[in-house]
Amino acid sequence: MSILSVKNVNQYYGGSHILRDVSLDAQLGKVTVLLGRNGVGKTTLLKSLMGLVPIKTGSIAFDGKPIERTTPYERARAGIGFVPQGREIFARLTVEENLRMGLAYKSGSTPIPAELFELLPVLKQMLHRRGGDLSGGQQQQLAIARALAPRPKLLILDEPTEGIQPSIIKDIGRVIRMLADRGDMAILLVEQYYDFAEELADEYLVMERGVFIARGPGSEMQEKGIRQLVAI
Ligand SMILES: Nc1ncnc2c1ncn2[C@@H]1O[C@H](COP(=O)(O)OP(=O)(O)O)[C@@H](O)[C@H]1O
Ligand SMILES: [Mg+2]
Repeated sequence: MSILSVKNVNQYYGGSHILRDVSLDAQLGKVTVLLGRNGVGKTTLLKSLMGLVPIKTGSIAFDGKPIERTTPYERARAGIGFVPQGREIFARLTVEENLRMGLAYKSGSTPIPAELFELLPVLKQMLHRRGGDLSGGQQQQLAIARALAPRPKLLILDEPTEGIQPSIIKDIGRVIRMLADRGDMAILLVEQYYDFAEELADEYLVMERGVFIARGPGSEMQEKGIRQLVAI
């Protein structure tokens, strides 16, 4: 069953038609990877899924219910976690406070799940440091943990490897695989780092100027020449 089902979404910025009849699904237990060059509309699609920009036409169903008219807050509450491009952690707040922000719409007493520190151990050592004092990779791990704190059913990540050192990219890849393999979460990953994308993809989608030009099982990415398709 698809936890996320997107049908014929159209999106404009002013007069520019950015997303054209975009349809996709995401399944629990699977990593769906969305590839595409700069400026094709990947982030716009994710923002549309989160409700940060309103869609013009089309439908978005999450967990069997239409959500396209709901607010970002309601979508987060429904179980969608978002790790934005560029991370957007709170630089002046501590790691612990950042993680609490991820729980802001839960009741005040909801504790930070201990398993976050098992998945991303570096955060435990950094708990009382300010977000802004962390390395880029640590900030990315914090942004992921913040999105995971309320235990979403769908985790959306926008280019989590951007500007991050290889050892931390490996750690992030392991976490993504582990979360998907548990079977109770769907992952939608936007990525331009091809090797990382191919390694993680159960399903792939390739976007070009607001439309999907290729899609299929991750295991077929090599034979279909997807690397060449998205090469800069
Ligand atoms: N807030 C905005 N207002 C107007 N145009 C925008 C805005 N954000 C992005 N765009 C344009 O929309 C297109 C898609 O951008 P984006 O979704 O960020 O692409 P990607 O994430 O694939 O790099 C680009 O041409 C970009 O310049
Ligand atoms: Mg983007």
